[in-house]
Amino acid sequence: MEHPLTPEERQIPIHGPTEFEGMRKAGQLAARTLDFITPHVQPGVTTDDLDKLCAEFIADHGGISAPLGYKGFPKSICTSVNHVVCHGIPDPGKRLQDGDIINIDVTLYMHGVHGDTSTTFLVGDVDEPSFRLVKETARSLDLGIAAVRPGGAVNEIGKAIETHARQHRLGVVREFIGHGVGTEFHSNLQIPHYYERRLTTRLELGTTFTIEPMLTLGAPEAALWDDDWTAVTIDGTRTAQFEHTLVVGDSGAERLTVTPAGECAHDLIASMAG
Ligand code: MF3
Ligand code: CO
Ligand code: CO
Repeated sequence: MEHPLTPEERQIPIHGPTEFEGMRKAGQLAARTLDFITPHVQPGVTTDDLDKLCAEFIADHGGISAPLGYKGFPKSICTSVNHVVCHGIPDPGKRLQDGDIINIDVTLYMHGVHGDTSTTFLVGDVDEPSFRLVKETARSLDLGIAAVRPGGAVNEIGKAIETHARQHRLGVVREFIGHGVGTEFHSNLQIPHYYERRLTTRLELGTTFTIEPMLTLGAPEAALWDDDWTAVTIDGTRTAQFEHTLVVGDSGAERLTVTPAGECAHDLIASMAG
């Protein structure tokens, strides 16, 4: 029988059972890394301290930090504070202050595959708009995940996220998107967090990919610092991000970047009232 997928769709990574077990293990260790770092995210700690702690935890548990050396990235995790959209570089001169928000993005490689997850932490007491931003960004990831169904179109994910953002008067960053993940850190599969009418590529059973919305309090346009990595909002307003690695199962997306008990650092924020 002829292959039912178009050539473009055949580029979607579909992993065999061995790789799939590896994805689960890599995802669990990535989730545990975020749990491990949570009590260290406090006023006074530097983003470089957080990098060193995560790098050591990952190595001690048999993982390899994927960002280190990836296209020249100099550190083991990304740390993005306040108006930094993503890809912030851990810095010994950057000390967290009461009221900051910080996204920590962990990607690690083990058993031949990647686990990629991030969460935005509240540092001490944050103001009400920041709290709202963080909470609704976490919810937008959950809604994006809930929109996944086997054979469903990729653009249903962005539609769910963008609709939620709009209801809460938040911007959706367009320059950075979710991606296929597996043996490669970033595969050809693209997962925008906004509605893209033409993106009708179907998500097949077993596809592994990320959803990682970045929402903004102000305008969503981003610019790069001259370190060529740090992406910031042009208007200087705050931005938050949450990310999971997922696999398409019979009844929708299953989160791979959770602990063996099925928990993750995001759930607390998403469930907070207010
Ligand atoms: N973890 C990021 C993502 O979600 C990618 C970071 S690339 C790096 O896709 F080089 F900055 F690490
Ligand atoms: Co990612
Ligand atoms: Co990531």
